[in-house]
Amino acid sequence: MGSELIYRGSETQPSSDSYSPKPVKPWASVTRPIHYLLREQRLLFVFIGIAIATLIFTVFPTSPAPYVAPHSRFTTLIPDSITYFPIETQQKFSSAHRLGFGSANPTGKIPLGLKRKGLRIVVTGGAGFVGSHLVDRLIARGDSVIVVDNFFTGRKQNVMHHFGNPNFELIRHDVVEPLLLEVDQIYHLACPASPVHYKFNPTNVVGTLNMLGLAKRVGARFLLTSTSEVYGDPLQHPQKETYWGNVNPIGVRSCYDEGKRTAETLTMDYHRGAGVEVRIARIFNTYGPRMCIDDGRVVSNFVAQALRKEPLTVYGDGKQTRSFQYVSDLVEGLMRLMEGEHIGPFNLGNPGEFTMLELAEVVQETIDPNAKIEFRPNTEDDPHKRKPDISRAKELIGWEPKVSLRKGLPLMVSDFRQRIFGDHKEGSNTNNASSS
Ligand SMILES: NC(=O)c1ccc[n+]([C@@H]2O[C@H](COP(=O)([O-])OP(=O)(O)OC[C@H]3O[C@@H](n4cnc5c(N)ncnc54)[C@H](O)[C@@H]3O)[C@@H](O)[C@H]2O)c1
Repeated sequence: MGSELIYRGSETQPSSDSYSPKPVKPWASVTRPIHYLLREQRLLFVFIGIAIATLIFTVFPTSPAPYVAPHSRFTTLIPDSITYFPIETQQKFSSAHRLGFGSANPTGKIPLGLKRKGLRIVVTGGAGFVGSHLVDRLIARGDSVIVVDNFFTGRKQNVMHHFGNPNFELIRHDVVEPLLLEVDQIYHLACPASPVHYKFNPTNVVGTLNMLGLAKRVGARFLLTSTSEVYGDPLQHPQKETYWGNVNPIGVRSCYDEGKRTAETLTMDYHRGAGVEVRIARIFNTYGPRMCIDDGRVVSNFVAQALRKEPLTVYGDGKQTRSFQYVSDLVEGLMRLMEGEHIGPFNLGNPGEFTMLELAEVVQETIDPNAKIEFRPNTEDDPHKRKPDISRAKELIGWEPKVSLRKGLPLMVSDFRQRIFGDHKEGSNTNNASSS
């Protein structure tokens, strides 16, 4: 009996040595996480999270672009200021720079859900004719724009439609005084551009120097708006960028011509000596809405005179030639140049060549066929011919003008008509700005 009470479990139970766990299923390591994800709709929550993150980055994409100090990458010295340099070191930088991701995104690929981040850009002279159109394009592209202008020839009205936009700032400032701003790019346009104004207040070389200093300090890319006037009264026709020009250094126009030539020199010196990333545009005659009325430039003169039923004043015999580019073409060229990899200088102009008399005829056709022409003695040092060779710009930045004079002029005429007759207040402001 007693022996029956003895525990015999050890006989029936398997010993610990002989224990064998459940056989492992071969796909368990794969299926287990999947089961885990599918259970309690965890996968659904993961997808919802991704969707929310994508939405947030899409709706609020404009956090400031990380500051990029490119100096360390720009040790290449460029021997010749008139050659066109595809600089390898700059190429690496430029795609990241363009996207506003700085060096954080060297591949240039935009991650899913992230839009291009806006750049911080200064436009000096941004309340002027060309500057205000440039500002419109930059704001439309999603950049943050700071306009620096002393309103010598510019007008608040040219940029007022951006007031209230958090991506827009306007600073009344004369660029002859230094200025500190954290920016990625500087478009330097501040400079009186018409003879009436630059003879009164000559081109400021000091302003260019200050803006180059700013570019150096903050590592911004700098674009100089130079001019076809650097070719003076050219002995080469059409003018190529390699032509060094024929400028009277002591003439009445030389404050402008030589001022811009000096500005180009300084720009290249800052590039060679301090590694500043620079771009140089040589702009040929440009016209369009928002030009100063009565500022002595030929297209605005003719248009205003024809609208007011005054005779069109032609200086000299009217056979001197110019080429006329519509402002939207120029702005496209400036932006391509800034974003591209070549320093320049690049001619930006419309190669269509017109004598002053031909221009007067187009103005007559567009505004008033009965408009009279009045001849006056020619002004001193007026160049005889001007026509850009734009093959460089075509080849290297893929740019050429699209708007012909006959298409562009009516757009300017309706703006002038409105400013001269439609809104007297605005028209009088314009005149005040011009004569100040
Ligand atoms: N429009 C053209 O046909 C043409 C041709 C060649 C070159 N450019 C160059 O393009 C640039 C823009 O010309 P634009 O036609 O728009 O002339 P604009 O006179 O309409 O614009 C120049 C702007 O710069 C501002 N400005 C002038 N001096 C300044 C200073 N010291 N500080 C701050 N702001 C100042 C003016 O108030 C104005 O808003 C100029 O540098 C000009 O030399 C223009």
